[in-house]
Amino acid sequence: MAEAHLRVFRGTPETPGWFDDFKVPVEEGMVVLDALHWIQGHAAPDLAVRWNCKAAKCGSCSAEVDGRPSLTCKTRLSDFDLAEPITVEPMRAFPLVRDLVTDVSWNYEVNKTIEPFSPPEDVPQEDWRWQQQDVERVQEYRKCIECFLCQDVCHVLRNHETERPFMGPRYLVRVAGLEMHPIDQADRRSYLKDSGGIGYCNITKCCTEVCPEHIKITDNAIIPLKERVADEFFDPLQWAWRKLRGGAPDSAAGTELPMLSRPEAAPAVEVTPPANDADGDPRVPHDATGG
Ligand code: SF4
Ligand code: SF4
Ligand code: FES
Repeated sequence: MAEAHLRVFRGTPETPGWFDDFKVPVEEGMVVLDALHWIQGHAAPDLAVRWNCKAAKCGSCSAEVDGRPSLTCKTRLSDFDLAEPITVEPMRAFPLVRDLVTDVSWNYEVNKTIEPFSPPEDVPQEDWRWQQQDVERVQEYRKCIECFLCQDVCHVLRNHETERPFMGPRYLVRVAGLEMHPIDQADRRSYLKDSGGIGYCNITKCCTEVCPEHIKITDNAIIPLKERVADEFFDPLQWAWRKLRGGAPDSAAGTELPMLSRPEAAPAVEVTPPANDADGDPRVPHDATGG
């Protein structure tokens, strides 16, 4: 039977990180999550792995497989050269909890700062009317499964180099779904510019490339939002018109977003692994800071 060689990150924020090597028997159709389950069942019952649906729908099994942010339940072993080791690591943008599990709670704090869907108060829901093309446009944004792979791959969040917060592509997708909803009345453009840090995005499109739901994050969400922000704040005619007409205030303007803290996992120090791996081979030292 064919074997896959998985090299899996192990460690906690308190202990230095390392890689454990495992030889996993491969059956047809196996995905990386199957291999991790085999490891839990046969070699390392204490390996921490987060998963739920095994159907690419809950967004909880996100990790980095051979360096690429991926859903482990959707990543087939047959896509790899089994003669080479397949590395599996936690998402580097977020603080480590243990092994392959990271703390993604920062994302939920950002989500709370977004002005929710705001229909008109004086129009009952049964009287709402909107075009099919508007339904289809908003539907794309609602396919998001909150896997946070786009947040993980985005260099602005991953490198922790900004002094001000950046909400990240997942939440730009959510705001796009609200701003382009024909029934919604709120104006989130000041919020996007000042609190959400939309200007930090330089349209590298890395987020779009990793999205398992194939949401065109940059083309269909971020660029239209950037255009709306630019029209509102940087077009002199719009600026003059806004001064003349006044206009409803952006109710979420000035909202403070939390900063995504740099993972304070194990420091980059000399690593002394606790033991050899399952094959008796030495463990591979690893800098768990993900730097
Ligand atoms: S396109 Fe923007 S949001 Fe997406 S990964 Fe690049 S910088 Fe980040
Ligand atoms: S936009 Fe795509 S990559 Fe980002 S969290 Fe949603 S499903 Fe995941
Ligand atoms: S286990 Fe649900 S998306 Fe992978």
